[in-house]
Amino acid sequence: MSARRPLVIGNWKMNLDYVEGLHLVQQLGVLMKNRPVEHVEVVVAAPFVDLRSVSSIVDSERFSMSLGAQHVNANENGAHTGEISTSMLKRLNVEWVLVGHSERRVHYAMSDEIVAQTLSAVVRAGQHAVLCVGEERSIRESNTYCQYVTAQLESALGGLDEKFYNFVTVAYEPLWAIGTGVNASPEQVREMTSFLRKELRARSFTSPQVIYGGSVNAENAATLVGESDVDGFLVGGASLKAESFYAILRACDDCYAVKR
Ligand code: 13P
Repeated sequence: MSARRPLVIGNWKMNLDYVEGLHLVQQLGVLMKNRPVEHVEVVVAAPFVDLRSVSSIVDSERFSMSLGAQHVNANENGAHTGEISTSMLKRLNVEWVLVGHSERRVHYAMSDEIVAQTLSAVVRAGQHAVLCVGEERSIRESNTYCQYVTAQLESALGGLDEKFYNFVTVAYEPLWAIGTGVNASPEQVREMTSFLRKELRARSFTSPQVIYGGSVNAENAATLVGESDVDGFLVGGASLKAESFYAILRACDDCYAVKR
């Protein structure tokens, strides 16, 4: 378990327009006010166009959650049609940014090199980066997944100054578990969590934080968090409903309340 506060991030992906996003955050905020989540850092990674309104309501209602973005461009500004910079996100109080999500890597040609540049841009801007790594099914089946994620870590972190390490969280998201309804088992998550922590410590991370993503839901969250020694979750589908996301937060909070 990391010394850092456990983290649960809702990745809305390309779902919920700003009105729907506001409703969701409002409902979630009420649930969290009624019964606060004390030990867990809660982040919602909304689509770019929702961030402004979500930021306003989180601020005005004093909801205890932070804002995340799902992607950012590594450049500071300039001729990058359709892109968004870290400074634009900072103006909206975005404190967390997902970097190198597999959907960006696979469908939008985000290379290891761009992942590394983006990670560097995010932490230099003073934001927390959530570096996503994970193997596809064929790599798991060929038993080379540890080498595969090590290479992903190496290329992303290789050129990064150690002083930024505290701003990096690693999310293990095996592609075969994303959106499939088949989560990695607690044993598989535990194996990768401890493997990744070991790799990060070997690179001089003092308190590596490793979270898991892939078909986490209200039903499996308690078992996963209880049996896998993970530092939190990156949640897709189940973060789109306040009740299911809150159930995941509760499962983590209850577990960490006991572990402390
Ligand atoms: P699901 O929770 O929908 O499987 O998505 C996981 C994910 O990709 C979160 O970033």
